[in-house]
Amino acid sequence: MTTQDARIQAPELVFPTDFVWGAATSAYQIEGAVTSGGRGVSIWDTFVRQPGRVVNGENADVAIDHYHRYRDDVEMMASLGLGAYRFSVSWPRIQPDGTGPANAEGLDFYKRLVDELLARGIDPWVTLYHWDLPQALEDAGGWPSRETSARFADYAALVHDALGDRVRNWSTVNEPWCAAFLGYASGEHAPGRREPAQAMYAAHHLLLAHGLAVEAMRAQRSDTRIGGCVNLYAISPQTGSEADLDAARRIDGLQNRFFLDALLKGAYPADVLEDLGEMAGFAREGDLAVIAQPLDMLLINYYSRFTVSGKPGGAASAAAAPTDSGSPWVGSEHVSFVQGGRPVTAMGWEIDDSGLYEILTRLHREYPAVPLVISENGAAFDDVVAADGTVHDGERRDYIAAHLRTCHAAIQAGVPLTGYFAWSLMDNFEWAWGYGKRFGLVHVDYGTQVRVPKESALWYAETIRRGGLNG
Ligand code: NOJ
Repeated sequence: MTTQDARIQAPELVFPTDFVWGAATSAYQIEGAVTSGGRGVSIWDTFVRQPGRVVNGENADVAIDHYHRYRDDVEMMASLGLGAYRFSVSWPRIQPDGTGPANAEGLDFYKRLVDELLARGIDPWVTLYHWDLPQALEDAGGWPSRETSARFADYAALVHDALGDRVRNWSTVNEPWCAAFLGYASGEHAPGRREPAQAMYAAHHLLLAHGLAVEAMRAQRSDTRIGGCVNLYAISPQTGSEADLDAARRIDGLQNRFFLDALLKGAYPADVLEDLGEMAGFAREGDLAVIAQPLDMLLINYYSRFTVSGKPGGAASAAAAPTDSGSPWVGSEHVSFVQGGRPVTAMGWEIDDSGLYEILTRLHREYPAVPLVISENGAAFDDVVAADGTVHDGERRDYIAAHLRTCHAAIQAGVPLTGYFAWSLMDNFEWAWGYGKRFGLVHVDYGTQVRVPKESALWYAETIRRGGLNG
């Protein structure tokens, strides 16, 4: 290659050489094989069988059969040049009833997966909880029960003990906001309960579970890197009116600050506790010190911006599931969500990479310094498979490119952003939406299980190879 070629090919926006380029999935969304290898029943196995919970009554019994196809999937990741792969461990594969010794067959699956990844030079990033609580623990009270936090720490220790020698990067609970509020307040997600006061306990116990798990894992090894994982939204008031500003404060409080302040500052925001009134009695003395363990990184899932109004009458939730549900906005049900006028994805989520910039720079400004990683970012679009089998998903490519440019700008502005994981590596089971919403860089034919990298995947592979993209 001549010097001139090298200059032409060098990207305009170059990322740091140690920037982590990855893609993500989660166990229930991809594995299938729900009765194999001694796996127990999770709350999602139960939930999907209840009429009206998931579009078209779909379930993830087979999903994309990753449990049996993991070797081919890892090979495909290697062909795309992924530096890292974020996946979750299914709790009921490890402890079928949520307690007791580890099921060796369950651990073995993840050992084989990790070995395969390492053999291909792909760094495994393990998420311990991506929403598949063992049903037995739900029967004993679920996340509103304090006991569940202790059980989670035991489970985390079992997995970390088995994989900690080969996996360096860990996160505890994926998106505690969703697990608590979609699971226990709106009922859009498993276990489908609509008990707002209990949802607050669930949110607290998910955070406590995180803290206890970090303690347990740190006691086992000192070289493990651990992060908490939150889903953050940029929030805008519809107008500058007092009511709209207050609506934005409330939603930012429940969605963002409740989790960030607990994890990074060791306190719940006073205004949120005040809004909750009698529902604010979930924390015991000493809990927040456990929750606010020093972290090696914060993992951020970012998708969109909410525009909110204090006037009643708008949509109850900007990201509501298609099924009948309550409101996840405990104590702020009167806030309404309005369209901000931006283009939307197939989920109806507004596309706004400036919201990611806002979040990253805000974290840098308002919270104690901690390395940041985008652990999920991506979009569902109605993909069309061309006659030759290819998928030209220019919208997904543009979405990811725009957000990566924003990541680059944030790094330039001094934000310690160290990695990016696209959601998702492959099309998969999108919870209450079933298989109709495709987020994958790789297309999956659900009839044949054939995987075909979409144009976005090929573009992402090229971006990784170049270490950046054009502005
Ligand atoms: C966040 C969740 O972690 C993931 O499971 C889900 O599929 C994506 N968002 C898209 O909704």
